[in-house]
Amino acid sequence: MLHLQVFGWYVLIKGKHMSKNTSANRESEPSSHVSRRDFVKASSAVVAGSALISCKAAPRAYAQGSDTIRVGLIGCGGRGTGAAGQALNADEGVVIWAMGDAFADRLERSKKNLVQHAGDRVNVPADRSFTGFDAYQNVIDSDVDVVILATPPHFRPAHLAASVDAGKHTFCEKPMAVDGPGVRSVIDSVKKAKEKNLNLMSGFCWRYSLPERETYRRIHDGAIGDVHCVHTTYHTGTLGQYARKPEWSDTEWQMRNWWHFNWLSGDHIVEQSCHSVDKINWAMQNETPLRATGLGGREVREGPESGNVFDHFAVIYEYPNGARCFNTCRQMPRCSNDNSDYIYGSDGTCMVNGWAPKHIITGKNAWSYDGPTANMYQVEHNELMKALRSGRVINDGDYMTQSTMMSIIGRMAAYTGQTVEWDDAMNSNERLGPSTYGWNDLEVVPVPVPGKSRVIKPQIDESTT
Ligand SMILES: NC(=O)c1ccc[n+]([C@@H]2O[C@H](COP(=O)([O-])OP(=O)(O)OC[C@H]3O[C@@H](n4cnc5c(N)ncnc54)[C@H](O)[C@@H]3O)[C@@H](O)[C@H]2O)c1
Repeated sequence: MLHLQVFGWYVLIKGKHMSKNTSANRESEPSSHVSRRDFVKASSAVVAGSALISCKAAPRAYAQGSDTIRVGLIGCGGRGTGAAGQALNADEGVVIWAMGDAFADRLERSKKNLVQHAGDRVNVPADRSFTGFDAYQNVIDSDVDVVILATPPHFRPAHLAASVDAGKHTFCEKPMAVDGPGVRSVIDSVKKAKEKNLNLMSGFCWRYSLPERETYRRIHDGAIGDVHCVHTTYHTGTLGQYARKPEWSDTEWQMRNWWHFNWLSGDHIVEQSCHSVDKINWAMQNETPLRATGLGGREVREGPESGNVFDHFAVIYEYPNGARCFNTCRQMPRCSNDNSDYIYGSDGTCMVNGWAPKHIITGKNAWSYDGPTANMYQVEHNELMKALRSGRVINDGDYMTQSTMMSIIGRMAAYTGQTVEWDDAMNSNERLGPSTYGWNDLEVVPVPVPGKSRVIKPQIDESTT
């Protein structure tokens, strides 16, 4: 039996938002205890990136050039529109068939852009254009084959559960959740997708970047020996804002500026630096860390419009073999920027900067990448459509869930100032955000204070684990 242990002001504030098991949040309810062992078991099968499942009961294969692949887009902002365009580029049989967004203006803007790009292959009449909080379900129910999930990550677990329950192949933008209950829901969806032989591709796009794939493959093959330390950085500028309009409710204002509110984004270590946390996970061959300690705060963000997210984090992940890995991320203007991976091994060092681009190994097996490059966002959709055509199944579920959870435990450690054990974070009952959704008043939870805020963790009855 799980008992909720609640202490500290942050928890009490969060407690106000704790789930009441309404239909809106039921998918995110904690199901069962998930231990580090469960992750280790799952990850040992998947070290190089995607798991290609060779399936006996293959899903429907779409014949090249004949069958149409109907794509439904949920979340029609920058990334969703980009992903839909890449799906169209990937295969000439792809059509955009249904679209959904919380807001009509976002949907119409996206549709216009996509029509400019692909003309009548964007076949989304008014009765397949949906807005509001239930738009996702309407898109899924519109006889689509593939669903692209690209809303703010708070909504992802429920949207993914609905997509997989309906038997849809899914492209799921990162991160996959913002809290422990969300991650546990995603774990359930990943399992169901495997059982149903559904493609489940993650938006952790560096796993689809050709130079990164070759570099990390070499690291896994021992090019720098045993990896004992990884430092990844996401040091970048600050966030933009949409000025509040008088007619906007609190919810609308927060959702239009979602990256400033931790219930929607998970904070920037989860929303943005999860790419760099995923690189740690990749370098460590998807080994699960034991625990995390984090520093962080809000030095330069100010004013209500900047919500309640931190502007810097530094997190230390400890591994069973003694390795220590670090992610540092910062969103501040006029500071030095860096988005790199530094990987230290017993026989050498590797430095990766995907944007530069630089992929360099020094030491015993000195090497640098000079192979082909390709737009990783396009590669994702090329591989997804190719898998659909051939009847193969890609399932990125294990590493995408683990890297999301690693980012969340980093945030928990920094918010609380505590060292947080993996299993406590994984089974935490802290659920960010309201339990029902509407265009109404919505208080902004105060910025967490290390040393005062606490992780909400269930007390585990050991006999049930
Ligand atoms: N892989 C990458 O490199 C990459 C790059 C950018 C963004 N992303 C991810 O993509 C996601 C979207 O980011 P973005 O930059 O496109 O943001 P965005 O604000 O441009 O788009 C999000 C869209 O979702 C809509 N939306 C919000 N809540 C919704 C709901 N409940 N139902 C339906 N629609 C809803 C918004 O109105 C908006 O149009 C985020 O998870 C982000 O982290 C990934």
